Amino acid sequence: MGNGFKNSVDEIKNNKDITYEQLKTVLECNDKDDEEYLFEKARETADKVFQKEIYLRGLIEFTNYCKNDCYYCGIRCSNKNADRYRLTDDKILECCDIGYELGYKTFVLQGGEDPFFTDEKICNLVRRIKQKYPACAVTLSIGEKSYESYKSYFDAGADRYLLRHETANEEHYGKLHPATLSGANRKQCLKNLKEIGFQVGCGIMVGTPYQTLEHIYEDMRFMLELKPHMIGIGPFIAHKDTPFKDEPNGSVKETILLLAILRLLFPNVLLPATTALGTADALGREKGILAGANVIMPNLSPANVRGKYLLYDGKICTGEEAAECNICLKNRIERIGYHVADSRGDYPGWRDR
Ligand code: SAM
Ligand code: FES
Repeated sequence: MGNGFKNSVDEIKNNKDITYEQLKTVLECNDKDDEEYLFEKARETADKVFQKEIYLRGLIEFTNYCKNDCYYCGIRCSNKNADRYRLTDDKILECCDIGYELGYKTFVLQGGEDPFFTDEKICNLVRRIKQKYPACAVTLSIGEKSYESYKSYFDAGADRYLLRHETANEEHYGKLHPATLSGANRKQCLKNLKEIGFQVGCGIMVGTPYQTLEHIYEDMRFMLELKPHMIGIGPFIAHKDTPFKDEPNGSVKETILLLAILRLLFPNVLLPATTALGTADALGREKGILAGANVIMPNLSPANVRGKYLLYDGKICTGEEAAECNICLKNRIERIGYHVADSRGDYPGWRDR
C-alpha cells in the first residue's frame, strides 16, 4: 500500500510532467503518510529554490466595479447588493506608502473590470507608483484587455500581471461565465502578456461547479505549455448573491494536494497560499506553505473598503488594518519555520528591465 502513490510523486518530481493516472492517484490520496510524503517532497523542492523565504505582496483592491458577470464572483455586475467603490490615485499611493513602511516590495493592483479606469489612468497610476518606489514591483490584476492596452501598462513600468485562466476546458469555462466571455480569449491574453514581457500568473479555483478531474488535468497540460511565472490557486467559495450561492465550496485538502503537485512540476514558480485558502481553513495559508507555496498576499486596501471587495462569503482580514495583518502573517510564517523575504521576489533568474 502506498507505493503506487509514492512512485507517482517521484515520477512527477523527476519528469516535471504528469499523466492523468498520476494526477488521479495523488488527488484520491487518503493515507496520511502518503500525503506527508508528497508535502515533504514539495517543501524540499521549494526550500531548495527559495531557502524558506516567503514573499509578501501588498494587495490593493482599488475598485469593485466590474462590467463582467462571472457566475461565481461576488462583485459581478448583476449583484445589486454589492456596495461599489473606487479608490482615488492618492488613496492608492497612500496604500503603497503604508506597504512600503511595512517592507513590502511588490504592490498588486487588483480590481474588477472597471471601464472608469481607462488605460491612460492605469498607466499614470503605474508611473506614479514606480516613480515613488522604483525598487518595488507593480503587479496588475485587472482582467482581459487588448494587446495594445497590456503593452501600454508594460511600457508605463508594470512588471507582472495576474490573470487566472479559471479553467482550460472551454465547455467548463462556458458553465462558469456568460457567453460574452471565452476561455480562448483568456488564454490569448495570457500568451500576449508573456510575449510583451510581463512575469505572468495564471491559475484556477479548485472545486468550482461542474469541475472534473479531467478538467484539472487539462489545466495541468495548459500550464505546462504556458510556463507561467506565477500560479494562483484557491478553493472556490460560494457567495450568497451569485447564481452559485448553493454550490458546495471547494476542498482545502484538494487545494493543498494541487499546490504540492504544482510545486513539483514547477520548482521555480511563485505560488501563493491564497486568502481563499485562509478563509476556507483558519490554518489554510500555513498548510499551503507546508505544501510548497512561497507567496502570501496581505491586504493593503484601506480598512473602510475591505468589507466591500467580497468575491466570496466569509473573507478573512476584512476587519484588520494593514499593520495588523502584517504582524499576524509574520508570526504565522515564523511559527512554521519560514521567514519573510526582504527582496522583490521576482521569478528566479528574472532580469529586470
Ligand atoms: N477582474 C480581474 C480578473 O478577472 O482577473 C481580477 C479580479 S478577480 C475577482 C480575481 C480572482 O478571484 C478570479 O480570477 C477568481 O479566480 C477569484 N474568485 C472570484 N470569485 C471567487 C469565489 N467565489 N471563490 C474563490 N475565488 C474567487
Ligand atoms: Fe490579516 Fe491575519 S493576515 S489578520
